[in-house]
Amino acid sequence: MSRTIVITSGKGGVGKSSMTINIGYALADKGAKVCLIDADFGLKNLDVMMGLENRVIYDLKDVIANKCSLKQILVKDKRMDSLFLLPACKSLAFDNLNLDYMSKMIEQLKEDFDYILIDSPAGVEKGFQYASGLAQEAIIVVTLDVVSLRDADRVVGLLLKQGITQLHMLVNKYSEEDIIKKRSLDLKEAYDILSIPLIGIVYDDHIMIEANNKGMPVYMNKNDNITGCFQRIVKRLEGMEVPFQKKKRKPLLERIFR
Ligand SMILES: Nc1ncnc2c1ncn2[C@@H]1O[C@H](COP(=O)(O)OP(=O)(O)OP(=O)(O)O)[C@@H](O)[C@H]1O
Ligand SMILES: [Mg+2]
Repeated sequence: MSRTIVITSGKGGVGKSSMTINIGYALADKGAKVCLIDADFGLKNLDVMMGLENRVIYDLKDVIANKCSLKQILVKDKRMDSLFLLPACKSLAFDNLNLDYMSKMIEQLKEDFDYILIDSPAGVEKGFQYASGLAQEAIIVVTLDVVSLRDADRVVGLLLKQGITQLHMLVNKYSEEDIIKKRSLDLKEAYDILSIPLIGIVYDDHIMIEANNKGMPVYMNKNDNITGCFQRIVKRLEGMEVPFQKKKRKPLLERIFR
């Protein structure tokens, strides 16, 4: 059965778009058919971060205007055959969108895809309500700071009110050093605030920023620690028990000369 999951957060900039793309990659790498929906209407994110911006010909407003079919706006990824993007469109405001129409569109997509991942815009306003209104599950992305977690707690409340009960916490920008030096909260403290199961952690790493800027998702760095984070998240999403794994340290010389 197809799963529709919204990737959301309270605070902005915690990594929703980065997580959406790389979880999509990890799922597609396991053979699933995946559709990513960029629900950050008004801004464009995922197409740029995936290096697909030149391949976007049509967008949602063309479907609404009957200029093309739903299938025609889907952009196939350059590297993964079973990964597709439904791009956002700059000129479409939420007022032009009808939730019933969008829900029907999702139902149509479910016939072709195993997973539909919806990248929610920041905040808890209309964009968030739209994105979460279309999903049955949510991944709430947090960082280990009090503001991110408190804002996420408010989002959990709103999601529960919308009837979304399958909630997962994903801790992004995880730094063992920050935890040890008490510069950030730890996972237990995060759990105490949110009380929803942890689906995984993604290390704080500059290669994520570089990858996003190059339009080459970090997951493609197959040997890196971060790729393993996404593989474990996907396994847990599919119900497997996967132990927490510490980041593998680079050999001393590599660390010195980085
Ligand atoms: N694990 C990570 N380590 C280091 N930097 C990261 C990590 N994850 C994301 N980033 C960086 O953090 C910034 C914000 O990421 P991203 O755009 O994915 O967040 P977002 O939650 O979608 O933001 P917005 O709320 O604006 O939509 C980007 O510069 C991204 O490269
Ligand atoms: Mg984003």
